[in-house]
Amino acid sequence: MTPHIEQAIYGLVSTPVLHLVDRHDILTCLIKNGPLSAGAVADQLGLDGDTVERLLLVCVTFGIVRRDPAGAYRLTEEALPLFDRGNARYIGGFVEHLTLGAAERMQRLEEYLRRGKATVDATREGPYDIFYRDEESTREFMDAMWHLSHGVSKELAALADLPAAGLLVDAGGANGPFAAAALQQSPGLRAVVFDLPPVRPHLIRAGLAAGVADRLDFVAGDFFTENLPPGDLVSLGYVMSNWPDEECLHILRNAYRACAVGGRVLVMDRLFADDHTGPLATSVMNLLMQLETRGRHRTTAEYLALLTEAGFTDCTVRRSTGDKHLIIGHKAGDQRDRSAPAGGDEGA
Ligand SMILES: C[S@@+](CC[C@H](N)C(=O)[O-])C[C@H]1O[C@@H](n2cnc3c(N)ncnc32)[C@H](O)[C@@H]1O
Repeated sequence: MTPHIEQAIYGLVSTPVLHLVDRHDILTCLIKNGPLSAGAVADQLGLDGDTVERLLLVCVTFGIVRRDPAGAYRLTEEALPLFDRGNARYIGGFVEHLTLGAAERMQRLEEYLRRGKATVDATREGPYDIFYRDEESTREFMDAMWHLSHGVSKELAALADLPAAGLLVDAGGANGPFAAAALQQSPGLRAVVFDLPPVRPHLIRAGLAAGVADRLDFVAGDFFTENLPPGDLVSLGYVMSNWPDEECLHILRNAYRACAVGGRVLVMDRLFADDHTGPLATSVMNLLMQLETRGRHRTTAEYLALLTEAGFTDCTVRRSTGDKHLIIGHKAGDQRDRSAPAGGDEGA
């Protein structure tokens, strides 16, 4: 059996195990005090030693921790930034989102299979009415967005060649993982996050924590029914993948109207390979998009076609080293910034 097939068979176990070892501070304890035996971790945290050992043994097979011959555990180099709560690449909030939310939603897949998504969802509320149904669920979703997006946003902000001054409108910007990274990178820039009303306190909190509150504003609104505020750049991170093509075009046309002449739209999303055969995270999230939203993931060509149809020109793709990439479209005009970073672009 290949490792991939084996992981597919035992996949039911992997995400809840990661959630438990993160949530109960087992990995944090190893990061702070390791290498430690399972018994020593259990004693420090007041947990059951046998269960800690079994969880850590599973983590060894996932390459999350290493076990030395004396039975002491420590995180692998690759896993360390992902489970270190102080690291921008910390992924715990997203693992929590998968465990608490997506696992429950997976049960709907069979209904979709039998009766079709449109029929099953006809009586359901919209995705964001569900995510923002109460304080706890809103916080959980906001944490997931921050942990999913903030780490890679630093790289995306660098790839975007941000101007030294001007206004970034981050549409559907949530608690500001991209806006904060952009403002940190470009001290003369200001940003407005345009999002649904429940997001406001989360954005304000995150802006203060990131030290950019004086240049970051929030405007509550609905990008299907209201105009986006005007700006020099309009960013759309993990927004297109929430919606079918028709709605994407509606949002992109709104972004086009909001964009200053010579400005740019920055779409940031996962990309399918041209033949849709991966990567794994994009295929998995494409399935989850079906359960959590009305969207899907797309290939480079599909994004370039959408941006072009909405009016943007000179559309290009710049790839990050992570899962989220940058698709840029220009609003033609005299002041257009056509500079390209090292590494080059994939053009339309
Ligand atoms: C998947 S999250 C992406 C968050 C963030 N941009 C990122 O890259 O992580 C999509 C965001 O779109 C916002 N959103 C959904 N429907 C919206 C609407 N009709 N108008 C404005 N924002 C909306 C949600 O509140 C959420 O913050």
